[in-house]
Amino acid sequence: MGRLSRATWLYIGVIVIAAAIVTGYGPHRDVAWSRLAVLAVLFLVCESTPTAILPRQVAWSPGYAATLASVVLVGPWGAAIVGLVSAFSLRRGLKPAQRVFNGAMYALSAYAAGRVYLALGGVVGIPPHNSFPQIIGPFVGAAAAHIVANYGMVSVVLWLTSGGESGRRLLNLRLSLPDLGYAVFGLLIAALWSVVGAFAAILVLIPLFVARWAIAQFANQQRAYEATLRVLCQAVETKDFYTRGHSERVSRGSVMIARAIGMRPERVEAIRYAGMLHDVGKLGVPTKVLQKTGKLTEEEYAAIQLHPMRGLEIIKEIGFLDEALAGIMHHHERIDGCGYPMGLAGDEIPEFARVLAVADAFDCMTSTRSYRGARSIAEAITELHNCSGTQFDPAFVDALVAAVERDGWQTPDTPVPPPGERIEAAAHDHDDPAAPLRVMGSR
Ligand SMILES: [Fe+2]
Repeated sequence: MGRLSRATWLYIGVIVIAAAIVTGYGPHRDVAWSRLAVLAVLFLVCESTPTAILPRQVAWSPGYAATLASVVLVGPWGAAIVGLVSAFSLRRGLKPAQRVFNGAMYALSAYAAGRVYLALGGVVGIPPHNSFPQIIGPFVGAAAAHIVANYGMVSVVLWLTSGGESGRRLLNLRLSLPDLGYAVFGLLIAALWSVVGAFAAILVLIPLFVARWAIAQFANQQRAYEATLRVLCQAVETKDFYTRGHSERVSRGSVMIARAIGMRPERVEAIRYAGMLHDVGKLGVPTKVLQKTGKLTEEEYAAIQLHPMRGLEIIKEIGFLDEALAGIMHHHERIDGCGYPMGLAGDEIPEFARVLAVADAFDCMTSTRSYRGARSIAEAITELHNCSGTQFDPAFVDALVAAVERDGWQTPDTPVPPPGERIEAAAHDHDDPAAPLRVMGSR
């Protein structure tokens, strides 16, 4: 959270007051305090060590399991008290406002879950053996209520802190499998309590932390991949000052198309990588050719046309790229078969490559080049439509146009060379769809 607006403070205030009412006027008698204390410690331990599953995903923690176990074992009020403990999380870097909001939010989510649990016929206390499977229905209802309440409150605060301008941050809050999986652990804790008492928490916690450790390793590996890919991008872009940031933007445009056509999340992730690396083959093209200001010789043009193949050679050993490799290799193919390196046409061109081609050309047109200024978004869209069906797949042109009209497009700033730095600039850009089509052997 940066500097908070008045609306955000007001919202946090409402959440905190609601949590204070719920926890302040709860049933102070008939509460299994020792059980509540164990669950609160369990929740605190879980909350203090969240793990981000993917680099851009919000961090999650198995505290959700402890809250849901509390719903069964100590009821709505007890669960709200357990949720309140989130304010005392040992996570570093949390600001006081975040702590207060988290505590209040978890308290309210847990209370809502507890109320739904009771409304669906759930009974508070250590569940006897004969309570299964009847307990499952109320428990699933409680889990769903917790998720809806939690995500609802977080979404509003994110919307307020992003100035209400963008819904992108909300999209990051996709419900993930672990959220639902933790509900099962919550039920497991409650069920085991009748057999091993408070030791149930430890029994469940150990495999959970082993799993979290494995997930953390995976997340670290993903971050290392991302860092490596970024370095490769930077290496490419140092070869041409005027294309800095191009790879990131092509990646963003490709993801916009992919989402607009309903691509599966794993493939969206793969095409994001493909966008970042689509021109990595330029590393294999002599810099003096990329930066040549005059007309290219046939050999030089051939060297540029080889960059998709060079790209494939450079990154083909990176196993997780899979489908992205085909996209990188064929991103200069054209629907009419006049592209390179293979001259594939129509559906012969891999889907990733057809998506990349549209995003690549769009960013190129809306960016400043040494030999021309940036075109407006409207002009670039007109040009995409003009080339739709010959150079580009019409479905992906329509998808990008729809996505840009809905979400907007951040065009890059006009590049200003650093003082004293001599910039060699090419007199052409191979991504520019307005550049005349050149066939090998022609002059
Ligand atoms: Fe390219």
